[in-house]
Amino acid sequence: MTHTHLAAAMQRGTEFLGSRYAIMGGAMSWVSERNLVSAISNAGGFGMIACGAMEPHMLEEEIAETAKRTDRPFGVNLITMHPALTELIDVCAKANVSHIALAGGLPPKGSIDAIKGKGAKLICFAPALSLAKKLVRSGVDALVVEGMEAGGHIGPVSTTVLAQEILPEITDVPIFVAGGIGRGRAIAAFLEMGAAGVQLGTRFVCAHESIAHEKFKKAFIRASARDAVTSVQLDSRLPVIPVRALKNKASEEFAAKQRDVANQLDTGSVEMMEAQLQIEHYWAGALRRAVIDGDVESGSVMAGQSVGMVKGEAPLADIMAELCDEAETSLAP
Ligand SMILES: Cc1cc2nc3c(=O)[nH]c(=O)nc-3n(C[C@H](O)[C@H](O)[C@H](O)COP(=O)(O)O)c2cc1C
Repeated sequence: MTHTHLAAAMQRGTEFLGSRYAIMGGAMSWVSERNLVSAISNAGGFGMIACGAMEPHMLEEEIAETAKRTDRPFGVNLITMHPALTELIDVCAKANVSHIALAGGLPPKGSIDAIKGKGAKLICFAPALSLAKKLVRSGVDALVVEGMEAGGHIGPVSTTVLAQEILPEITDVPIFVAGGIGRGRAIAAFLEMGAAGVQLGTRFVCAHESIAHEKFKKAFIRASARDAVTSVQLDSRLPVIPVRALKNKASEEFAAKQRDVANQLDTGSVEMMEAQLQIEHYWAGALRRAVIDGDVESGSVMAGQSVGMVKGEAPLADIMAELCDEAETSLAP
């Protein structure tokens, strides 16, 4: 199918990304590595490497290996809390990475200049209109507006509400809408509301090219929307960012982890920053156990509510074609 209407509706996004479709593959720790990222870009989307907790030399290798697998553009997603953020930005600059996303909080001092000064385009997450305005003022080149339907770490507001609040107000930079998008019709709807493009994660996990463990993929295929639930915050002092994942034993173990960290705070054996890092390391480890080792019981099976629309494994190109065909049909008069 030719995608004339879709191409027109996505033009601002595709010009910004340099890809055929303004569909970003949201970075997913352990999942968004060389194979999936290159497959997304080769299918016309825009793949994003999830740096997660990688050390700089590992990121350098991941970028090089991804570039061997695609000659299309792709980006890198860095977590603001990473202790080696500056070195990671340098690695991206040396490898001429064209687009960098900063996730996990507001960009730390100096990081915006460091990224833009080295010629990359900077993408940030805007969980509220006020923050979106602040980020635009501070010079970011594009925003991802991600609602709480998404998989992984989430904010409290739904995608539809954020899109309605932010899209009409922010016109200076392109905006990509994320969270809960499972069908091309939804992509079309957000484009019609003024989005430059979209970002999807959950729908790409079961691509053939994804290295996620077979058991991780099976859990996705079996699950319905209501199985993708958010973690509970047990102690109001602990600024635990909610995580959306499939219900399993890991959810209970996370409660125990929070109690343990809260006790450490009580006894003064850790500072708040360290406590938060411990929680984040817990998630990174639990996600790895599920994605790589296939331990879908005590590992964390992070998934968005759109998991119910994942019906089987398929080549990435087929998933992309299905999404784009549906969007085109919806946009055509
Ligand atoms: C398994 C998994 C891991 C994720 N890891 C990250 C991450 O490391 N960094 C990040 O910025 N977003 C992460 N996300 C969010 C995705 O990048 C993306 O924004 C989200 O999946 C979009 O919502 P959807 O899942 O409803 O499509 C993750 C999502 C999933 C499902």
